[in-house]
Amino acid sequence: MRTVHTLKELRAMLRSYRQQGKRIGLVPTMGHLHEGHISLVRKAREAADIVVTTIFVNPMQFGITEDLDTYPRTLQEDQDRLDAAGSTLVFAPSNEEIYPQGLARQTRVVVPEVSEGHCGASRPGHFEGVATVVTMLFNMVQPDIAVFGEKDYQQLAVIRKLTRDLMIPVEVIGSPTVREDDGLAKSSRNSFLTEEQRAIAPVIYRTLKNTAEQIRKGRNDFVTLEKEANEALSEAGLRPDYFNIANSLTLKPASAEDTELTLLVAAFLGTTRLIDNLSISR
Ligand code: PAF
Repeated sequence: MRTVHTLKELRAMLRSYRQQGKRIGLVPTMGHLHEGHISLVRKAREAADIVVTTIFVNPMQFGITEDLDTYPRTLQEDQDRLDAAGSTLVFAPSNEEIYPQGLARQTRVVVPEVSEGHCGASRPGHFEGVATVVTMLFNMVQPDIAVFGEKDYQQLAVIRKLTRDLMIPVEVIGSPTVREDDGLAKSSRNSFLTEEQRAIAPVIYRTLKNTAEQIRKGRNDFVTLEKEANEALSEAGLRPDYFNIANSLTLKPASAEDTELTLLVAAFLGTTRLIDNLSISR
């Protein structure tokens, strides 16, 4: 496996793969990789001959009060894990390589509707940052397929829409959330939790499952269910940001007639913000 840091080197490598008729897969990440990321690489490996994993902590998607500076950078460990998982090439560019004119002068991609609400409401500008960098990565790598985790449900919806709307010829593949034995969704941010916070964190998934169970039993009073879920999170020691029951496709608040629902949650443990979601059909 090779690691390159510049677009020039990346394009030279990709040119030669393309000349050999290889199918190219892309797995964009921000590094500090865990089992969840590795499952994305494995999925990409199934659908493509070459897997390009990108490692770039994208400053455009972090708010000014967020954890950009403390976000873990673990390139050597990440490379070892990617090599073992079957990634062919790692692209780990600097900020200057991606945004040579600086963030303020960068052209941006705005994805309406699905970017609104949920994390879009709590993190203004976040999805603009994600949509912009993912569009750039699609243009840099020009992959046949790209794999993203379903753990970031709203992000996946944003990426699917921008791909469709901008007619980018890439197949976007969603990959199921990987969980710890106690149900906590794997996340780079789990490493920020103290032992005590880590013991509380599985309540997030338990609350999602309990709420889904209530809906399956026929409850349609979504606003009350959201309130109950927020209370359960608070009682366990979390600070809920939101718990929303949404239409799986539009991400708008669910109505009693909707059959495909997604429950989305974000909650703080100390300063660490964790997200998770659960989709159900009824
Ligand atoms: O999910 C992530 O790690 C990031 O949002 C992504 C898709 C790599 C864009 O920076």
